[in-house]
Order: sequence, then C-alpha cells, then structure tokens
Amino acid sequence: MTAEHELLVVGLGYVGIPLALRACRAGLRTAGLDVDPSVVDTLAAARSHVAGVSDEDIAELRLLGFAAGTAPSVIASAETVVICVPTGLTADRTPDLGPLRAASRTVGAHLRTGTLVVVESTSHPGTTEEVVLPILERESGLRAGEDFYLAFAPERIDPGNERFGLGNTPKVVGGHTPLCAKYCAAFYGRFVDTVVVARGTREAELAKLLENTYRRDLEPAKLPERLLLLPELPLGPTGKVCRATLTTLATAAHPPSGRSSRVMDRGADIPVGERASRSRSATASTGRTSG
Ligand SMILES: NC(=O)c1ccc[n+]([C@@H]2O[C@H](COP(=O)([O-])OP(=O)(O)OC[C@H]3O[C@@H](n4cnc5c(N)ncnc54)[C@H](O)[C@@H]3O)[C@@H](O)[C@H]2O)c1
Repeated sequence: MTAEHELLVVGLGYVGIPLALRACRAGLRTAGLDVDPSVVDTLAAARSHVAGVSDEDIAELRLLGFAAGTAPSVIASAETVVICVPTGLTADRTPDLGPLRAASRTVGAHLRTGTLVVVESTSHPGTTEEVVLPILERESGLRAGEDFYLAFAPERIDPGNERFGLGNTPKVVGGHTPLCAKYCAAFYGRFVDTVVVARGTREAELAKLLENTYRRDLEPAKLPERLLLLPELPLGPTGKVCRATLTTLATAAHPPSGRSSRVMDRGADIPVGERASRSRSATASTGRTSG
C-alpha cells in the first residue's frame, strides 16, 4: 500500500520548515504537524515565521501540496516521520527533553508498522535509544528495528551560510539497527547529496554534539582529547566514533572562518565505514512496506 505522505515533519520551526521545503521540492509528498496552532495558521496564510524562509517559499510549499495541522492522526499516514522539536535547557541548565518526550508519545500513539522515525533534534548521546525508543515502543506496542525503524540524523543548519545548505551539507545518520540506518540513508539520499552512515545513533548524536562544540570554541587538535573525556561511549577498538565524528568535522560545510582548510585537509584521509552518495534527483524508494 502506498502511504499518503512520504514524509511527516513534526515540529515546524527553524529546522522543520527548511526540511519540508527541500523534500517537497524533491517531489516527496510531505505534511507537517505542530502543537502550536499559530504556527499552522501562519503557514496556512502563506506567511513565513522562520528566518531565512520567505513568504514565497511558504506559498511554494502549499503549491507543492504541503499541508500543516495540529491533528496527530496524520502520523498514521506517513512512511517517514522526522522529529524536529526544540531541545533547549531548563532553568537549572539541564537538557530539556520535555518537547522530545511529548513528540515521541504523540508519534508512538499513532505509529504504524513499517514507519521510519527519525530524530533530528540535537541532544546528548543516548537520547534516541534511551529516551525516544522506550516511549515509542510503549505507546505503539511495536518493536523498534522489527516493526518500525528508528534513526538519529542531526540537523546541521549553519545560519547565514550562503554556500552550504541542507542539500549539499553531508547528512550524518545513525540507525538503531543496520536496517534502520539503511532505510534512513535511503530516505535522505532522495534529497541530500551525500549521506554518511555512522555506526549507530550514539555516534551520530556525538558527532553533532562535537560539531556544535567545535563550531563554538574547540580547536581541531583538541578533538581526540575531548573524545577521551567520554569513556562511557562505545568507542570500541576500531575507533568508529572518532571516524564518524571526524568525518563530520572534516566535511563540515560551515567551519568557523580561518579553520576550514586545515580540517578539510585532515579529513580527506579519514576512512568512513559506509558512505552513500546519491544525486538530488534520485528517486530510490526505501523499499519498505507501509504496513
Ligand atoms: N536553529 C538551528 O540553527 C538548529 C540547528 C541545528 C539543530 N537544531 C536543533 O533542531 C531542533 C529544533 O530546533 P528549531 O530551531 O527548529 O526549533 P523551533 O523552536 O524553531 O521550532 C520547533 C517547533 O516545534 C514545535 N513543537 C514543540 N513541541 C512539539 C510537539 N510535542 N509536537 C509537535 N511540535 C512541537 C514548536 O511549536 C515549534 O513550532 C532543536 O533540537 C535544535 O537544537 C537547531
């Protein structure tokens, strides 16, 4: 059975709207879900509430068939659900996973067999499998990796960067299982030039975390030192976490000024476990059944 929507974006903000736009332009049947009715109303009026996205872009979204709503029943109509809700800090500066937990409950309650669920929201390593996965399984009664597929694929937007955007910034994906990673890579390969597959969700989460750290204040030479500060992570004898992370940084489309050539040069020699590149026009199906 063909799903009504190939993509449902949950959380229509700074990350979710550009994703919806890119996917719609690549021809994916896309819908959006948000808890804030004012966001949905603004989009319905063909106005943009997101910096860097114009009213014309929103009008184009609508012409391409995109519709946003607040009714979670739309989740059951989607082949792939991408969660882009906020993950900030609480008043005492601990990670605020409230919106991510709430979105996971909503998605889980309407999840169908065969759906791919992807988390793009930035969070600490372990969040996808320790926080999101149990909620999805409990709410749906389905098993991750067997009945539905789960992956983490961090958003890497660099505000104001005119050279690199969503399509030509390499997408790092980490699956709960190799099959989850495969389906996730196939999904993004439909509208992102290069997909880099990390060993798992934790490695992809760590890659994003280190990229953020690097972008703000870290000298590349200090990366190995920082990785050693994370002993609980499954670095493993092959050092695949390092590879995924350094690959992310090496191919970083948006390094802070003055550091780019060094990191790019360094990264050219770093092997990656698996790399999948597809052209923007690729129409490869994920091959999943919609259940
Ligand atoms: N803004 C950036 O430059 C950037 C870059 C990379 C990653 N990120 C990460 O992406 C994630 C999203 O950030 P953003 O800037 O797009 O946030 P945002 O605040 O712009 O948008 C989030 C949207 O999610 C909606 N929302 C909240 N809870 C929801 C729920 N339970 N169900 C459905 N919708 C819900 C909100 O109403 C809002 O419209 C965060 O984890 C952020 O750290 C942001």
